[in-house]
Amino acid sequence: MPITTCVFDAYGTLFDVAAAARNAAREPGRETFARHWPAIAEKWRLKQLQYTWLRAVMGTHTGFWQVTQDGLDWAMESEGLEGDADLRERLLQLYWELEAYPEVPAMLHALKDAGLNTAILSNGAPDMLDGAVKSAGIGDVLDDVLSVESVGIFKPARVVYDLVGARFGCAPEEVLFVSSNGWDASAAAGYGFATAWVNRAGDPMDRLPASPETVLSDLTGIPALARA
Ligand code: LAC
Repeated sequence: MPITTCVFDAYGTLFDVAAAARNAAREPGRETFARHWPAIAEKWRLKQLQYTWLRAVMGTHTGFWQVTQDGLDWAMESEGLEGDADLRERLLQLYWELEAYPEVPAMLHALKDAGLNTAILSNGAPDMLDGAVKSAGIGDVLDDVLSVESVGIFKPARVVYDLVGARFGCAPEEVLFVSSNGWDASAAAGYGFATAWVNRAGDPMDRLPASPETVLSDLTGIPALARA
């Protein structure tokens, strides 16, 4: 069945989540943080994601902004930087204006030129996603931004992936789902989407019940894959 709809995970897939810590580390007066930023970025992301999965399993949903702050607090304490309130505030502020990966605008334009539906499906809260989409300037090449907040549970709960068919009236096999998160790509493949895992880091495939059929190193190949 031809692909009619391309759906993207947001954080780590379209938006570079390490950019907040990387950019803050370059600011004057952040010499201590400059030594810690790669560890902070990695631990922040890992804890943020763990808290989404744990909250989904525990039935204690909260907004993505809360788990983003909780993950940062854990990461800062683990690096001995918990006393730096100014740094915390700056990192959180930068999370609202993350950079998109450089190939994102042209890739989305190519999909729209090919007549495909385009959307984000993200754990992010609508206001956070709105900020990131605006700061990346990609609002005009996205048909919609779907947030888990409308179902009140984080990915990879199946009910989140149901949002795509409900919005676009398409069957799962008409959807190309794109994520840089191996666990998200595996869950989407198990759901029945055609799935591409954007594996920028060269990580091993997650050992989960289903696997994405395509693995790419960045997003440039997505329009060709969707039209194939
Ligand atoms: C998202 C996270 C998982 O955007 O990256 O949903």
